[in-house]
Formats: sequence, C-alpha cells, structure tokens
Amino acid sequence: MGNEQQDRPGDPLTALLDQVRLRLRDLDDGEPASYIPELGRVDPDLFGLSLCALDGQVYASGDTTTPFTVQSVSKPFVFALALADHGLENVLARVGAEPSGEAFNSIRLEPVTGRPPNPMVNAGAIVTSSLVAGDGPDERSARILEGLSAFAGRPLKVDEAVFASERATGDRNRALAYLMHNAGSLTGDVEEQLAVYFRQCSVLVTCEDLAVMHATLAGGGVNPVTGDRVVAPRHAQHVLAVMATCGMYDASGQWMLQVGMPAKSGVSGAIGVALPGQFGIGVFSPPLEEKGNSVRGIAACHLISDQFGLHLM
Ligand code: DON
Repeated sequence: MGNEQQDRPGDPLTALLDQVRLRLRDLDDGEPASYIPELGRVDPDLFGLSLCALDGQVYASGDTTTPFTVQSVSKPFVFALALADHGLENVLARVGAEPSGEAFNSIRLEPVTGRPPNPMVNAGAIVTSSLVAGDGPDERSARILEGLSAFAGRPLKVDEAVFASERATGDRNRALAYLMHNAGSLTGDVEEQLAVYFRQCSVLVTCEDLAVMHATLAGGGVNPVTGDRVVAPRHAQHVLAVMATCGMYDASGQWMLQVGMPAKSGVSGAIGVALPGQFGIGVFSPPLEEKGNSVRGIAACHLISDQFGLHLM
C-alpha cells in the first residue's frame, strides 16, 4: 500500500496530489496486465502521483519512487529520438500520424503503403524504434536507453526479467512486425528490431521520472531538472501533437474531452501527461481497464484536470 498522507504544510500542490490519491485509493476496478507474465506479479495497490513543474520542482504523493517498466509510455520519447535522427518528413514516410481508433495491438496497417497508423500503437512504435540511429540493435538500444535517461535526468536501467518475459511471449508483436516487414514498412532483421522494441518497453522508471520526462516535453525539449536540452522544440511539439490525438489509443477522444491534455499510457499502469508550457505528470497504478489504461490513473488525471481547470480547450 502507498505511503500515508504526510504532513507538508504550505505546499498546496502536494496537498492536492495527496487529496486525489486518498480519494481514489480504494477504487478497486481493473486488473494488472498479465499477457506479459512478469507484469502480473506486481502489487496492485501501488499508487503514486508526481508532478514536475517547469522550474524543476517535483511534487510527489504515494509510491512515486517505486520502479516499474515504462512500457508504451516509452513510445513518445522514442518517436522524439527518431525525429531527432531523421526529421519529421522522413519519419512520416514510414509511420503515419492519424489516430487508429483501435486497440494498442491492432494489426491494421494502411492498405497501400503498409504504414502503421501512428507511433503510439505497437506497430508504429516498432517502426520508430527501428529508426533510431545506431549500428545494429545493441547500439540502437543503447541510444534509446541514453535518450530516455536524458528525458528522465538520471541513468535508467532495463528490467531483464520483464524483457525476457515479453520477448518469450510477444507473438502478437512478432506477427505485426513480420506483416510490416512483408509490406516494406519495417526493414532489417525482424527479430533484432523486436528485441530493441521489447528492451525499450522494459526500461525501469518511477512516477517521478515520468513527471520529469513529460515536463521535458512540456518545456519544449529542455529537462527542467538538469537544464539539458534533450530534443529540439519543434520535435517536442510534434510529439505532443501525436500524444494529444493518439496517446490513449481508442480512448483518445474521450480523454481529450474529459482531461484535455496530451498523454500516454502503458500496460504497467503508468500514465504520463504533459501540459505544454506548464508541467509534466506521472501516475502509476497497475490495475487496467479493458483498453489497457490505468483505472486509478485515468481517474486521477480527470480530478487533477478538473480541480486546476487545466483542460487546454
Ligand atoms: O508491446 C507491448 O505489448 C508492450 N510492451 C507495451 C504495450 C503497452 O504498454 C500498451 N499500453 N497501454
């Protein structure tokens, strides 16, 4: 169970995060993902909420330093690295930027080109991770780990057990990758490309890391804690645009209506949110609804958006 509410007088942001977390702590809908066997071993009661402002200040409530695998929340950041390596036009030649209206593991590709619909669904993310610069899978994986670490502002590591579990059981992603290889939208050795993608999903982060990573996007590509520029402002802008339209998969429209901020979810129970020019939020709570998004995570983002009047529209 998460830390109990702590006494932090005079800090209204932490008080608000505590309030939201305590209000939702007993919400017990959903189940942790188990299609990657290692993910099913998590404590479903873990619940953390972090917010990183653009002055680098991090606010935290609950289990915000517990590590978990980043899963699909890696996708916007790897898309950013592919943009940095190739530019928007070249990346768009290989992966679209349209919401699919379908599940994260949908096998639908564009009819003529075989392009995956966008970089947030698995098919698109397998392509963007294959586009990251590097000579061979080890170098590409190293650049991805280094890039994610720069977004987080600290050196991150891979959870080798989750990586092995996903690699051993990832037949749907394997099928997708072979389809795309056949269609010409994924080039190179399919098993090597998949290993790079599975490793990227298995990088360990905390809720606080997610808040800093999303604050880096919200701040136009500069990490507010380290002060380092991680990606160019226009690439951060492209990433936020695609998160806004495709980040929550087939729940993206509903999300924009209710929360109104660019976001990305992952099957470990993570959600990252970026409010451009303002802050990043990280939420972690493993039980998921049927679309693969964290139940408490969605509810927490609704409450935070409502209470602060954060909806962009
Ligand atoms: O590709 C997969 O199945 C996982 N590594 C990531 C999927 C994921 O996080 C989908 N998000 N809700």
